[in-house]
Order: sequence, then structure tokens, then C-alpha cells
Amino acid sequence: MLVLGIDPNYLSVEFPQTVYANAFNTMEQALLYRHIVPKICWKLQKWLQIGEEKKLSRAWQTFDRFLYERISSRKANMEKKEEEFDLLTAYMAEEEEEEVKEDEQISALRKTDKFLRDTAFSFLGAGNDTISSGLVWFFWLVATHPSVENKILKEIKATIVMHKKEDGERRFFFNTKQANNLVYLHAALCETLRLYPPVPYNHKIAGQADILPSGHHIKKNQTVLISYYAMGRMEEIWGNDCLEFKPERWISEKGCIVHVPTYKFTAFHAGPRNCLGKDKALIQMKMVASAVIGNYHVKVAKGHPVLPRNSIILNMKYGLKVQLSKRSLL
Ligand code: HEM
Repeated sequence: MLVLGIDPNYLSVEFPQTVYANAFNTMEQALLYRHIVPKICWKLQKWLQIGEEKKLSRAWQTFDRFLYERISSRKANMEKKEEEFDLLTAYMAEEEEEEVKEDEQISALRKTDKFLRDTAFSFLGAGNDTISSGLVWFFWLVATHPSVENKILKEIKATIVMHKKEDGERRFFFNTKQANNLVYLHAALCETLRLYPPVPYNHKIAGQADILPSGHHIKKNQTVLISYYAMGRMEEIWGNDCLEFKPERWISEKGCIVHVPTYKFTAFHAGPRNCLGKDKALIQMKMVASAVIGNYHVKVAKGHPVLPRNSIILNMKYGLKVQLSKRSLL
């Protein structure tokens, strides 16, 4: 919804399967494969159009069709001057108004449908599964740590404005200023992302020969694989309680969020190419987390196995099966 202004209607298992959503998942799976096998193997498979690369090409075509349709519908709406908000429309409007004198060729390229497709794909790839993966681990951690759940509830009740609808049902709302006051919830989300970073690993290629702070020599063009998952659980970095889910470690004595350098808390990467959507992600996660926890008690189904899936995004292998019961206290 936020990126393309379209509701894919796939939140409920009863809804029909969405071809585009399936294509997106297939692409993610095939991209994991590219990280595992030597480059020559997947390049050969791509050339011969076999195996994972064949699946990737097909899914790519399906997803491309979907994105191009969205781009032309957004363009048509912009011409009709229809008021709409989504990231793609905002980006396109910005490009139209851009007054920066850049190279004409670059400027023309940035307005092509292909460039818009790549931009929309980056937004979707970066902000779609990452937030949902983080939230699923969060709900599981909260469900298995009742004292954390109680503290979150207490904070929500103290911060958020209740609103009684005409039919008597009560709902709550909050704005971004109030969201900033949800300190404990913010801490619980950061603690979740430390233990279960949605992007569990990353790799970078050295532009120049270098020596890492650890003393390891890196050659030019050598690939370095960084495991954010392992870093979030290292005793040297997080202390001897590193495996415990403790939102309190993020809160100072004065009750504020402790600043943790990005090179220590690496879930959003660090340095010049770190995540551009970090603040947006945390706000969005706070909105969903407080709406769910404030209105429902989440209980994990008995015997449901909770394991990470091998993927470029740290999803749960079998999803999270839960029982929701409506709360009466809010
Ligand atoms: C919990 C949610 C999220 C996590 C854990 C996360 C994590 C990351 C990580 C690890 C990177 C670095 C990737 C790399 O080096 O290749 C990254 C980059 C990026 N993220 Fe996020 N992200 C999240 C949500 C979002 C959202 C909601 C958006 C915006 C729609 C977003 C936009 C971006 C962009 C544009 C980049 C590329 C930055 C660049 O290369 O300069 N992210 N993110």
C-alpha cells in the first residue's frame, strides 16, 4: 500500500493466492541461491535457463509486468491530477519538480519506466519483508515474555489517546509525536532486531586492499561476508546476557533510549550505505505492534515449531501460528 498504493489483499490465508506476491517470494529464494553457489554456476544456469535461474527469470517477468502496470496507472493519475499518496507517486512528482541541474542524460534516465521500475523494486525489496519479518519475531518474543508484554501495555495505556466510536467500540490512535514517547516499545523492537535482524547477513567487496581492525588482510576485490545475526549475539559486543531478550538494555537511567552506534547495532547496516528507511520502519512497526498488542493478547499455538528459514530475509520457517483473544482492558 505504502509503496505502490495498492492493497494486494494477501494478509489472510483465506484470500486467493496473489501471483505477484508469489513471484516476489520466488525471486527472494533464487537470490539466496546466488549467494550460496559460485558465480560461475548461477551464470551458467542463467545462460542455459535452467534450475533456480529459470524460476528467477519467470518470476522476474511476472513481477516486472505488475510494476510496469502500476507505473502507468500512477502516471495516468498524475496527469488527471488525482490526489494520492504512495512512495512511487511521491518519487515521480519529486522527479518532475527536480530543479537540480544534473547531467541531461542522467536526468532523462531517471524518468524512464525502467528506472522507475528499479526504484519501486528497491522500495519494495527494502521495506516489505524486512518490516514483516521483524514484527513476526517481535510478536513471538512478546508472547513468550509476559513481563515485557505487561510493560508495553502499561506504556500504551499511558501514551495513547482512546477514541470511542459511534457504535460504542473503542479504538486508539496516536500521532508521530506520541510514538516518540513509546520508549519501552521502541526498546523492545530494537532488542528484537538485535536478536533477529530481518537482513541476517550482508556482503561487501573491497575496492582496495585493506586491513580490518581484527588484523585480517583483505585483498582488492575480495568479498567479505558480514553476519548481523551472529554480531547481535556476540558476548564481546553485548555482554554476558547477550542471548537474553532484555529491552531494558536500550533504556537509560533517565528513561530515554540509549544511543547505540550503528557499527554495534548493525540490523540497519552501518556507514554510508546504511538503511534509508530506518525511522520509517520503526514508526511503522510501532503502529502495528501497538495496535495488535493494545487490542489483542497473542498466544503462540501449542507445539508450533519456531525456526528461522534459510533466506536472504530472516523469516520464520513455518510462519507463526497464534491464537488472538480480544482484550477488554483498553
Ligand atoms: C526493519 C526494517 C528494515 C531493516 C532491518 C532494514 C535493513 C537494511 C539493511 C541491512 C540495508 C543495507 C543493505 C545493503 O547493504 O545492501 C538497508 C538498505 C536500505 N534500506 Fe532498509 N531496512 C528496513 C526497512 C526499510 C524501509 C521501510 C525502507 C523504505 C521503504 C528501507 C529502505 C532502504 C534503502 C533505500 C536502502 C539502500 C540504501 C543505500 O544503498 O544507500 N528500508 N536496509
